[in-house]
Amino acid sequence: MPKHVVARTDEIPPGGRKILEVAGRSIGVFNLGGEYFALRNRCPHQGGPLCEGRVWGALESSRPGEFRYSRGGEILACIWHGWEFDIRTGQSWCDPSKLRVKRYEVEVEPGTAVVDPEAPAPGLVKGPYTAESYPVTRDGEYLVVEIIP
Ligand code: FES
Repeated sequence: MPKHVVARTDEIPPGGRKILEVAGRSIGVFNLGGEYFALRNRCPHQGGPLCEGRVWGALESSRPGEFRYSRGGEILACIWHGWEFDIRTGQSWCDPSKLRVKRYEVEVEPGTAVVDPEAPAPGLVKGPYTAESYPVTRDGEYLVVEIIP
């Protein structure tokens, strides 16, 4: 199954992140002002844990002596050697034409969309009897990441 529930939306506040294992790989899910992005937690340089790195912005300059800080909270620096990547795209800033970290689409879905109350647990087969049961609802929204092997 390529889609995986990775968190409730309220687990990752704006500016926050969550690093977890999904489908045999470590990924980091980031909240940029209510938009969610997921990157592989493996730096393309030498395999460092990229998603544990410092998050900051970009310095832009049009001429010597002048600079402007922009895109605060959208640039991720690897903790091993400091290579920088755009959280929105996975694009590197040190060699943008060649280097990019794997990124995954993140969707926000209501709890009713990610929980099927009729689905049996993995490996179980439904029996012939049914006990009295009561509906259980799930509030909130969940973050779903699609990982295609
Ligand atoms: S391993 Fe990430 S910058 Fe070197």
